[in-house]
Amino acid sequence: MRDLKNDVASILISEEQLDKIVTRIAADIDRDYSGDDKKLVLVCILKGSLVFMGDLMKKIKVPVEIDCMKVSSYGAGTESSGQIHISLDLIRPDINECDFLIIEDIIDSGCTLSHLTKYLKLKGAKSVKTCTLLDKPSRRKVEFIPDYVGTEIPDEFVIGYGLDYAEMYRALPFVGILKPEVYTK
Ligand code: PRP
Repeated sequence: MRDLKNDVASILISEEQLDKIVTRIAADIDRDYSGDDKKLVLVCILKGSLVFMGDLMKKIKVPVEIDCMKVSSYGAGTESSGQIHISLDLIRPDINECDFLIIEDIIDSGCTLSHLTKYLKLKGAKSVKTCTLLDKPSRRKVEFIPDYVGTEIPDEFVIGYGLDYAEMYRALPFVGILKPEVYTK
């Protein structure tokens, strides 16, 4: 059996560190959304945010609803193209009552979250905030500052904890740096 861990150059964020990050963000969200006037909807951006979202929602104590969107950037491989396409949209009649918190695994160029935030506001959302596990500020193409950040990371190709290369490695329980020879083959 192929061991995907052999493709990992080093572990950037361990399971224990991830757990601490998720616990801290959940506490921040509880503090900010504790009001009775809030209707918090966590929006998981498929597929990369699946693992982070699953862990985060278990630690949040205020009542939450969940929803999912799928957003693809045009182009493949290790570079984002800057253009995005919504292939799975929210289907709900109560958008104007919802306080949406978009959950991302990573911000790179900033195009996805910048576009999605504007999109949900245009659809009439009561409020829209953003939360990312990982942030690569050095890669921004558009200015974007998320409301909740797990940690900033250097410009390395990271996989695991939901993040993929060619759809693999998402199930690894840590965030690791992929060996360059894997994606330059
Ligand atoms: C990744 C990530 C974000 C987006 C960030 O998704 O999950 O959604 O790219 O990049 P940006 O800041 O440059 O817009 P990807 O398109 O790789 O899809 P996936 O989540 O299904 O892996």
